[in-house]
Amino acid sequence: MAKEKIKNNNIILIGFMGSGKTSIGLKLSYKLQMAVEDTDKIIESREKMSISDIFATKGEGYFRKLELEVLYEIRNCNGHKIYSLGGGTPVQLQNQSIICQCGKVIYLRAKPETIYDRLKGDTTRPLLQCDDPLSKIRDLISKRKYAYERCADMIVDVDDMEQSEIVDAIVNFINNEE
Ligand code: S3P
Repeated sequence: MAKEKIKNNNIILIGFMGSGKTSIGLKLSYKLQMAVEDTDKIIESREKMSISDIFATKGEGYFRKLELEVLYEIRNCNGHKIYSLGGGTPVQLQNQSIICQCGKVIYLRAKPETIYDRLKGDTTRPLLQCDDPLSKIRDLISKRKYAYERCADMIVDVDDMEQSEIVDAIVNFINNEE
């Protein structure tokens, strides 16, 4: 997606739940000596509630509004940080152009089976608390993949990569872009 000229040196990690945004964000932070933030954590600390409780008591629509507010803040602050976005943030068309203005966008792309293996037994993702999480993951990924791809400056296929390889690939990409 074409970037509008807004000066922003952030690195933005996007991808489905369980694609590794949080752990890769932490490793990148160490390697690049940049602060890292997680938009879900920002929302949880503001609401003083877990994401699951926000979904359960206030609904997904309310959560999506908070996500958009955080996105605007990232876009507007001309920062130099790493941000891991919630897996659903790029879905709304309105969010996509804002994400692109937030910084360099890295999409951690993973196959449904990889996500399923990683998140089996996880209870913190309200959208996957159902009888057949693998089908739900497949369905959501097929609906979301174009949104992720449209936002991405770089796509990393993470399924068969070590975390250190993913981090190195991102660092190379960022260095070559500068
Ligand atoms: C969501 C992903 C979650 C969290 C919420 C909704 C989604 O973030 O924002 O449960 O719609 O994919 P992670 O991708 O960090 O798990």
